[in-house]
Amino acid sequence: MAIRSLAYVVVDTADVEAWRAYAEQVLGMQAIDHEGGLRLRMDERPFRMLIRKGDAEQFHAAGLVYPDKAAFDTGIARLRDAGVAIEPASEDEAKDRHVVEFVRCTDPSGNRLELGWGRVVDGNPFVSPAGVSEFITGEMGMGHVVFPAAKLAETRAFYIDLLGFGDTDEMRVYMQGGPDDPGLGMHFLHCDNVRHHTVALAEFPVPSGLVHMMVEVPGLDDVGRALDRAKAANVHISSSLGKHMNDKMVSFYMRSPGGFDIEYGFGGIQPDWTSFTPTISLKEDEWGHQWDFGG
Ligand SMILES: [Fe+2]
Repeated sequence: MAIRSLAYVVVDTADVEAWRAYAEQVLGMQAIDHEGGLRLRMDERPFRMLIRKGDAEQFHAAGLVYPDKAAFDTGIARLRDAGVAIEPASEDEAKDRHVVEFVRCTDPSGNRLELGWGRVVDGNPFVSPAGVSEFITGEMGMGHVVFPAAKLAETRAFYIDLLGFGDTDEMRVYMQGGPDDPGLGMHFLHCDNVRHHTVALAEFPVPSGLVHMMVEVPGLDDVGRALDRAKAANVHISSSLGKHMNDKMVSFYMRSPGGFDIEYGFGGIQPDWTSFTPTISLKEDEWGHQWDFGG
């Protein structure tokens, strides 16, 4: 059975206050104290980003959920049958994640996943401290993550064959350019919702453990205001405003306190998977997205 959505992400940090300021003043999420760290709210759920107090800056895990217990049980059995090491989490840990049950595993490139089921809502309205109108979440999940995948083909097969993802798009990225550059592969994969991709895999190493994560807002004004807030807070802008060719997302990228980038965008297409043919994109963008890897 297929994964329904990206429910949450877990990030470790030595600097909780940097994350609080970034979440509230730049991202526009609500930061709530939680066991020395933070829960970041972006909708009706108790949290979508869990910021844990740790020793270093590191992306810890992505929380992917199945739609229900039957799908979870079938899905986890399939992983075990394939020889994937599964570590069940305790009831207390599940409560902390606001799911009913979850297990831990890693994909073939070593990215940590928490696979669970169950949706807890607490009835508190989301109120953005920065005036963000809303984040586009719901059944589409909180956004997407792009993982480093040194074992690109094997890792793609793990998501497709074992977690029920489907191909949306693939491309090669040419960092050096010129005839001798073989390029680096990327796969964009969807799960059981209309978001263009929920997990993407990139064939390059990333020290922070994540290439980027994406959050989506309803329109250009929310993106433009976020860009203004990021500049006012002296956040490194990793990529200028631009429009991707594959998901049509208009977005910019900025550095987070975790060292990885956060893409902040609007207007991503929502394909009908029953009539969708996967694409092979020959370039990354229709316009914009000029990268600045420094900072
Ligand atoms: Fe993205």
